[in-house]
Amino acid sequence: MRAVDLIEKKRDGKELTTEEINFLIESYTKGAIPDYQMSALAMAIYFRDMTERERADLTMAMVNSGETIDLTAIEGIKVDKHSTGGVGDTTTLVLAPLVSSLGVPIAKMSGRGLGHTGGTIDKLESIEGFHVEITKEEFIELVNKHKIAVIGQTGNLTPADKKLYALRDVTGTVSSIPLIASSIMSKKIAAGSDAIVLDVKTGAGAFMKTEEEARELAQAMVRIGNNVGRKTMAVISDMSQPLGYAIGNALEVKEAIDTLRGHGPKDLEELCLALGSQMVYLAEKAASLEEAKAKLKEAIQSGKALAKFREFIASQGGNPDVVDHPERLPQAAYQIDVPAKADGVISEIVADEIGIAAMLLGAGRATKESKIDLAVGLVLNKKVGDPVQAGETLVTIHSNREDVAEVIEKIYANIKISDHAEPPKLIHGIV
Ligand code: URA
Ligand code: CA
Repeated sequence: MRAVDLIEKKRDGKELTTEEINFLIESYTKGAIPDYQMSALAMAIYFRDMTERERADLTMAMVNSGETIDLTAIEGIKVDKHSTGGVGDTTTLVLAPLVSSLGVPIAKMSGRGLGHTGGTIDKLESIEGFHVEITKEEFIELVNKHKIAVIGQTGNLTPADKKLYALRDVTGTVSSIPLIASSIMSKKIAAGSDAIVLDVKTGAGAFMKTEEEARELAQAMVRIGNNVGRKTMAVISDMSQPLGYAIGNALEVKEAIDTLRGHGPKDLEELCLALGSQMVYLAEKAASLEEAKAKLKEAIQSGKALAKFREFIASQGGNPDVVDHPERLPQAAYQIDVPAKADGVISEIVADEIGIAAMLLGAGRATKESKIDLAVGLVLNKKVGDPVQAGETLVTIHSNREDVAEVIEKIYANIKISDHAEPPKLIHGIV
């Protein structure tokens, strides 16, 4: 087989066979196919698309390019959740204990954040003593005992995707549905769960700016999952404004605790119930999404979800007292209120720009080496559709330095006030 023939085949709109796709990905991973040929292939795929079968084959070829995690020693149906990325997205911190409290094993491999705000591990590390440096054996033991554990990224998973994603980034081939869908799904499948729930974001703060694109991506990923034997569902959710009120590591832990207590932001709670219902349903702990949702609400009301969060924190060395005393989480030295300049209704909160404002305070990493400040971030006081009067607080800045002029400027530039505006619909669809 020669790469050039396969590039021409795809260029002319023909379907590649399983063997051809395996050959391309294997050879590219070991360096036998150069970047310039892979770039040409990616561009051909960008314009010619891939069939459902090709997409599944590409996904599995990338899974098989590296190590995979074996979770078969964990009892029960393991369900993983993936979000296509958002600002102030606190769902994992809520969902892990909430869903686990219904007996669904949560075996979460998670990363640190880059850009915007921290990842789930950064957030959890704002709890004194909490650590994720555990062995794979300890991880499996913890999940079997407590039905929940989080471990840092281990192993060389999907090296083909790492290489191809970096190449796509500089060749104008990122925004291709078959390439995005196979990239995301290969990582989830390599991580070993039996079923996958996807939160596909749409809006200004998301990868997929329009609802139509988000739906197409969600459908593509669900089909790949189901075609390779992993039950998969998706929620299409709004990311035109940040989720919930808090953006920043310790601030989001507190927001998660509030939500597990039933006092969280309405949008965060609604999305957690939608995603959580799919997780519980796919884990076969409920016969329908409605039944699953009712069980989740009960777990919040009864305190079962919060009790699971305490148990989880303690099992990984953390101090569970923060659940009842969130003021013991890292606190920033300064809290600075940013007042509205006019009367009206909040019409826009540009999610990614507000995320960058939080990053400027130190809540996120500009580069992989940057040190993160767990205490800092932003707490919104208003969401789109809320009325506001001049002088009322729009946002509270939590900062460890006094000079936040740049952050204030960014906030004013990205929170718009108009005569009227409606709150956006949070959930755009279920796939
Ligand atoms: N995220 C991924 O992991 N892969 C893509 O291709 C796009 C977004
Ligand atoms: Ca939030």
